[in-house]
Amino acid sequence: MIRVLFVCLGNICRSPMAEAIFQDMVNKAGLSSKIMVDSAGIGSWHVGERAHNGTLEILTKNKISYDGRARQIERVDLDKFDYVLAMDREVLQYILRNGTGAQAEITLFLTYAKLAGAVTGDEVPDPYYDNSFDRAYSLIQRGCAALLDSIRQSEGV
Ligand code: 4NP
Repeated sequence: MIRVLFVCLGNICRSPMAEAIFQDMVNKAGLSSKIMVDSAGIGSWHVGERAHNGTLEILTKNKISYDGRARQIERVDLDKFDYVLAMDREVLQYILRNGTGAQAEITLFLTYAKLAGAVTGDEVPDPYYDNSFDRAYSLIQRGCAALLDSIRQSEGV
Protein backbone atom coordinates (compact mmCIF):
# COMPACT_ATOMS: atom_id res chain seq x y z
CA MET A 1 0.00 0.00 0.00
CA ILE A 2 1.24 3.48 -0.92
CA ARG A 3 0.19 6.02 1.71
CA VAL A 4 -0.32 9.71 0.89
CA LEU A 5 -0.97 12.45 3.48
CA PHE A 6 -1.92 16.04 2.59
CA VAL A 7 -1.16 18.66 5.24
CA CYS A 8 -2.23 22.30 5.72
CA LEU A 9 -2.68 24.58 8.73
CA GLY A 10 -6.18 23.80 9.93
CA ASN A 11 -7.19 20.67 7.94
CA ILE A 12 -10.50 22.29 6.99
CA CYS A 13 -9.78 24.07 3.66
CA ARG A 14 -6.85 22.97 1.49
CA SER A 15 -5.76 19.52 2.67
CA PRO A 16 -9.28 18.03 2.85
CA MET A 17 -9.87 19.42 -0.65
CA ALA A 18 -6.70 17.68 -1.83
CA GLU A 19 -7.64 14.45 -0.04
CA ALA A 20 -11.08 14.41 -1.69
CA ILE A 21 -9.82 15.27 -5.19
CA PHE A 22 -6.92 12.81 -5.02
CA GLN A 23 -9.13 10.02 -3.63
CA ASP A 24 -11.54 10.64 -6.52
CA MET A 25 -8.66 10.37 -9.04
CA VAL A 26 -7.33 7.22 -7.36
CA ASN A 27 -10.81 5.65 -7.46
CA LYS A 28 -11.29 6.54 -11.11
CA ALA A 29 -7.87 5.06 -11.96
CA GLY A 30 -8.89 1.81 -10.22
CA LEU A 31 -6.06 2.19 -7.69
CA SER A 32 -7.99 2.40 -4.42
CA SER A 33 -6.59 -0.94 -3.23
CA LYS A 34 -3.03 0.31 -3.85
CA ILE A 35 -3.07 3.95 -2.72
CA MET A 36 -4.39 5.14 0.65
CA VAL A 37 -5.17 8.86 1.12
CA ASP A 38 -5.58 11.02 4.25
CA SER A 39 -5.15 14.62 5.40
CA ALA A 40 -4.20 16.47 8.59
CA GLY A 41 -3.48 19.96 9.92
CA ILE A 42 -0.54 21.26 11.91
CA GLY A 43 -2.89 23.22 14.21
CA SER A 44 -5.46 21.83 16.64
CA TRP A 45 -8.08 24.63 16.36
CA HIS A 46 -10.52 22.68 14.19
CA VAL A 47 -9.98 19.09 15.31
CA GLY A 48 -13.18 17.07 14.89
CA GLU A 49 -14.86 19.60 12.59
CA ARG A 50 -16.14 18.99 9.08
CA ALA A 51 -14.38 20.76 6.20
CA HIS A 52 -15.04 24.48 5.60
CA ASN A 53 -18.24 25.22 3.65
CA GLY A 54 -16.19 26.78 0.85
CA THR A 55 -14.32 23.49 0.39
CA LEU A 56 -17.49 21.37 0.64
CA GLU A 57 -19.33 23.62 -1.85
CA ILE A 58 -16.67 23.50 -4.54
CA LEU A 59 -16.25 19.74 -4.11
CA THR A 60 -20.02 19.24 -4.45
CA LYS A 61 -20.04 21.47 -7.55
CA ASN A 62 -17.47 19.08 -9.02
CA LYS A 63 -19.41 15.97 -7.92
CA ILE A 64 -16.83 14.90 -5.34
CA SER A 65 -18.01 13.79 -1.90
CA TYR A 66 -16.12 14.31 1.35
CA ASP A 67 -17.13 13.55 4.91
CA GLY A 68 -13.79 13.58 6.74
CA ARG A 69 -13.20 15.37 10.02
CA ALA A 70 -10.21 17.55 10.87
CA ARG A 71 -7.33 16.00 12.78
CA GLN A 72 -3.90 17.19 13.86
CA ILE A 73 -0.76 15.64 12.39
CA GLU A 74 1.23 13.35 14.73
CA ARG A 75 4.93 12.45 14.58
CA VAL A 76 4.02 8.82 13.80
CA ASP A 77 2.35 9.97 10.54
CA LEU A 78 5.79 10.85 9.21
CA ASP A 79 6.83 7.20 9.41
CA LYS A 80 3.45 5.67 8.54
CA PHE A 81 2.96 7.61 5.29
CA ASP A 82 5.16 7.37 2.20
CA TYR A 83 4.35 10.87 0.90
CA VAL A 84 3.67 13.84 3.18
CA LEU A 85 2.65 16.85 1.09
CA ALA A 86 2.60 20.37 2.53
CA MET A 87 0.34 23.06 1.06
CA ASP A 88 2.78 25.91 1.75
CA ARG A 89 6.25 26.63 3.11
CA GLU A 90 5.08 27.44 6.62
CA VAL A 91 3.49 23.99 6.85
CA LEU A 92 6.51 22.30 5.23
CA GLN A 93 8.91 23.94 7.66
CA TYR A 94 6.81 22.92 10.65
CA ILE A 95 6.76 19.30 9.48
CA LEU A 96 10.50 19.25 8.75
CA ARG A 97 11.31 20.80 12.14
CA ASN A 98 9.40 18.01 13.84
CA GLY A 99 10.34 15.25 11.43
CA THR A 100 13.95 14.35 12.10
CA GLY A 101 14.57 10.81 10.85
CA ALA A 102 11.17 10.51 9.18
CA GLN A 103 10.59 7.70 6.69
CA ALA A 104 8.22 9.71 4.48
CA GLU A 105 9.16 11.81 1.50
CA ILE A 106 8.21 15.28 2.75
CA THR A 107 7.76 17.96 0.08
CA LEU A 108 5.64 20.87 -1.07
CA PHE A 109 2.48 19.45 -2.66
CA LEU A 110 2.80 21.54 -5.84
CA THR A 111 6.40 20.39 -6.52
CA TYR A 112 5.14 17.73 -8.95
CA ALA A 113 2.79 20.05 -10.85
CA LYS A 114 5.52 22.68 -11.05
CA LEU A 115 8.00 20.15 -12.48
CA ALA A 116 5.35 19.11 -15.02
CA GLY A 117 4.84 22.76 -16.02
CA ALA A 118 1.19 22.73 -14.88
CA VAL A 119 1.58 25.56 -12.34
CA THR A 120 4.08 28.37 -11.82
CA GLY A 121 4.16 28.75 -8.02
CA ASP A 122 4.73 26.02 -5.47
CA GLU A 123 2.33 27.04 -2.69
CA VAL A 124 -1.47 26.84 -2.46
CA PRO A 125 -2.59 30.21 -1.03
CA ASP A 126 -4.90 29.77 1.96
CA PRO A 127 -8.56 30.36 0.97
CA TYR A 128 -9.49 30.65 4.67
CA TYR A 129 -8.56 34.32 4.67
CA ASP A 130 -9.89 35.53 1.28
CA ASN A 131 -12.45 32.90 0.21
CA SER A 132 -10.37 32.01 -2.86
CA PHE A 133 -11.76 28.47 -3.01
CA ASP A 134 -11.95 28.51 -6.85
CA ARG A 135 -8.24 29.29 -7.13
CA ALA A 136 -7.41 26.65 -4.51
CA TYR A 137 -9.49 24.05 -6.36
CA SER A 138 -7.79 24.77 -9.69
CA LEU A 139 -4.29 24.55 -8.18
CA ILE A 140 -5.09 21.45 -6.14
CA GLN A 141 -6.68 19.69 -9.12
CA ARG A 142 -3.51 20.23 -11.16
CA GLY A 143 -1.34 19.29 -8.20
CA CYS A 144 -3.20 16.02 -7.66
CA ALA A 145 -3.06 15.03 -11.34
CA ALA A 146 0.73 15.58 -11.45
CA LEU A 147 1.21 13.79 -8.12
CA LEU A 148 -0.72 10.74 -9.31
CA ASP A 149 1.30 10.63 -12.55
CA SER A 150 4.53 10.80 -10.57
CA ILE A 151 3.50 8.12 -8.05
CA ARG A 152 2.33 5.80 -10.84
CA GLN A 153 5.72 6.15 -12.52
CA SER A 154 7.95 5.89 -9.49
CA GLU A 155 5.94 3.16 -7.73
CA GLY A 156 5.03 1.22 -10.88
CA VAL A 157 1.28 1.14 -10.28
P1 4NP B 1 -6.37 25.44 5.88
O1 4NP B 1 -6.97 26.89 6.22
O2 4NP B 1 -5.01 25.39 6.48
O3 4NP B 1 -6.33 25.38 4.40
O4 4NP B 1 -7.34 24.44 6.50
C1 4NP B 1 -7.01 27.41 7.52
C2 4NP B 1 -8.01 27.03 8.36
C3 4NP B 1 -8.10 27.58 9.62
C4 4NP B 1 -7.14 28.51 10.04
C5 4NP B 1 -6.13 28.87 9.19
C6 4NP B 1 -6.06 28.32 7.93
N1 4NP B 1 -7.23 29.07 11.34
O5 4NP B 1 -6.42 29.97 11.65
O6 4NP B 1 -8.12 28.70 12.11
